[in-house]
Amino acid sequence: MRLKNIKKQNEILVVRVDERTKKLQSANEELRQKNNLIQGQNEELKQKNYFIQEQKEEIQAQAEELEEYTKEIHLINERLEDTVTERTAGLKKSNEELDNFVYRVSHDIRAPLSSILGLIEIIKMEVLPTKLDGYINMVNQSIHKLDTFVKNILDYSRNSRLQVNPVQINFSQLLDEIVDELKFMENAENIELIREFNIEENFYNDALRLQVIFRNLISNAIKYQNPYEDHSYVKVKLSVNSQELNLEVEDNGIGIRMDDRQKIFDMFFRSDNRTAGSGLGLYIVKETIEKLCGEISLDSHVQKGTTFIIKLPNLIDSNILKIEI
Ligand SMILES: Nc1ncnc2c1ncn2[C@@H]1O[C@H](COP(=O)(O)OP(=O)(O)OP(=O)(O)O)[C@@H](O)[C@H]1O
Ligand SMILES: [Mg+2]
Repeated sequence: MRLKNIKKQNEILVVRVDERTKKLQSANEELRQKNNLIQGQNEELKQKNYFIQEQKEEIQAQAEELEEYTKEIHLINERLEDTVTERTAGLKKSNEELDNFVYRVSHDIRAPLSSILGLIEIIKMEVLPTKLDGYINMVNQSIHKLDTFVKNILDYSRNSRLQVNPVQINFSQLLDEIVDELKFMENAENIELIREFNIEENFYNDALRLQVIFRNLISNAIKYQNPYEDHSYVKVKLSVNSQELNLEVEDNGIGIRMDDRQKIFDMFFRSDNRTAGSGLGLYIVKETIEKLCGEISLDSHVQKGTTFIIKLPNLIDSNILKIEI
């Protein structure tokens, strides 16, 4: 009976162990599945992490790039500010120059006009015909002064307005025309024009502007000749090659003081008030040469003379300049 009991209990135990084992197995299986799931999630997390790391690096690179751009923009801004300051200063200067210019222009036009009006009043009252010649001469001079001044203003305006128009230059003809134009100047007959040409190649440039340059330099040589000199001359030395014109206009006139040499190209500068003029000639020459992409300098000795040295490009292939201007 006892054995039977034990056997029965044993059987119950086996069934229970079996049941537990099954439960344990199922719990194990569940755990394995959960583990698998966690591993999968872990893998996904790792990938997401990797992706986040990549994005972080990209953002970092973009931030660096942005910093570079910001620096560059800063630099551009600074440069822009400099340009604006520079331009403002330039505009202020132009405005002041314009003010000065208008003032001088009206003054230089009104002075000879008032003198003409005054002389006409005198002429009206003058009864002695012998004296009339003198007055009429003076009217004539004032009109010439006015005419030169207006021509100067026109040359100045043309130079800044008109495009460079290269044509073949005939220097002999050009100088003949200038001499003809200037022969009525006071003491023009007392100065010899010497020509020294060395022309290897045809020269192309703007004829109107060359006229302005020659007219002003030669008229100055006539105006500022040395009254104590027996043989006053103005020598036009020029040499041309395919690249450029090298020109020297040399006189043996009164010369220019050292202090004045820097200023003679300034608008309205005159160092000698004994002769008539408005101090525009050399300013226009300088502006004209700049427009032609050339250079001008001078050498001068008081009581010995002055030489203006000029370089101008040969615009054989006129496209060269058309691109630059
Ligand atoms: N060849 C020269 N010899 C000596 N002085 C000169 C010579 N050329 C110019 N100068 C000096 O330079 C100054 C400026 O010359 P610029 O030709 O500009 O004016 P200007 O002759 O006085 O007047 P304009 O406007 O009628 O030409 C002159 O007043 C003169 O003092
Ligand atoms: Mg002059």
